[in-house]
Amino acid sequence: MNKNFLWGVATSAFQLEGSPHADWSSWDSILSQNPEVTNHYTLYKEDLSLLKELGVNAYRFSLEWSRIQPKENIWDTSVVDHYQEIIEILKSYHVEPMLTLHHFTHPLWFITKYPWHEDSAVEKFLEYVERIVSSIKGVSYWITFNEPYVLLLGGYLEGCMPPGIKDPGLALKALKNMLVCHAKAYDIIHKADPAAMVSVSHNMAALAPWSRWNPLDRALAKMAKYFYNHSLTDAFLTGYLKIKFPFRKESLIEVPIKGKLDFFGVNYYTRVHVRFNPFRKMAVELRHLDIDGYGLTDLGWEIHPYGLEKVLRYASHLGVPLIITENGIATRNAQKKIDFMRRHIDAVERSIKKGIDVRGYFYWSLIDNYEWLQGLDARFGLYKVDFKTLKRKPTTAAAYYSYLIRSRAEF
Ligand code: FCB
Repeated sequence: MNKNFLWGVATSAFQLEGSPHADWSSWDSILSQNPEVTNHYTLYKEDLSLLKELGVNAYRFSLEWSRIQPKENIWDTSVVDHYQEIIEILKSYHVEPMLTLHHFTHPLWFITKYPWHEDSAVEKFLEYVERIVSSIKGVSYWITFNEPYVLLLGGYLEGCMPPGIKDPGLALKALKNMLVCHAKAYDIIHKADPAAMVSVSHNMAALAPWSRWNPLDRALAKMAKYFYNHSLTDAFLTGYLKIKFPFRKESLIEVPIKGKLDFFGVNYYTRVHVRFNPFRKMAVELRHLDIDGYGLTDLGWEIHPYGLEKVLRYASHLGVPLIITENGIATRNAQKKIDFMRRHIDAVERSIKKGIDVRGYFYWSLIDNYEWLQGLDARFGLYKVDFKTLKRKPTTAAAYYSYLIRSRAEF
């Protein structure tokens, strides 16, 4: 791996800090007992020093928009200063910041008054982007949206995430508006810094038929793979989103994102097996099987490192450098965390040897945090957090990651 390879860890603001003004705060009752989650908003210096201890050269984190703009007409500049201070600390540690503008959460006023399926969302989001780009200094790597398809599935198809809608038609309108925002944010960032590196972080999964002998499972897996992994990458190449849901006619939506990508952020966690089941919503049933024998994670996800090679190979068609902006495991077993990391980083190395241009790897996550639908039980951290005392403690996976970074790259 070359010496500019980004070895990092990834976090998101809400998962570490919570926020009294975010849509998720009233969405999940767990947050009423732990409103500040890990209290990173106060303990940030201590947490950032862990990056130094680890020896990473990059850190992906996000801004909590609802803290910055708690009300439609109120901008809290002290919060922007706080995030700027984080960037300064990272610089002093020679750690490259990668900044995510949108990582699932919204100010409550935004999602209530201007949900993504309304065109008015675009202007409101871009006001936020303009503010940030004109005030934040020292960031070269930007992620506009984290996992737009996860927000779409959770917020607009399953209804398990805010805004809690279950409507495929509105889902497509929301997706279109988010992608319009990506394109415009891309231009805003480039106007301020022509050399900036801008992407989205796209959650890609390995998808396979539940039964490979069943043609319906095979057809559904193919459709799911195209929708979940490839419709977005293709839209970056063609300017058109081609979406086909089971039993609905295909939609072809023009989106202004063709070429609006300087690298591509891939988030990869697992493989999912897909079954055709007419009694389920959209006739889709999903499950995880332990086929490789590496076991399942505490969330029941299959550990499948080869899938990372597959999604990287596919994403390489985009013709831009790839960065793994998230990869990690929820487990209380440090040895399992180490094995997961080693196997996935081996997969990255194999991809690079096969000529795929991968420029970075970010482990999710630095410390245990709030894992959306799974609350505080999913232990992704290299550092363990005791949610009663808020003490951080290294797991042996932290020492292993440091060792791995030192042994695989000189930077
Ligand atoms: C990803 C999310 C991230 C985190 C991990 C485990 O899908 O981007 O916030 O929850 O999963």
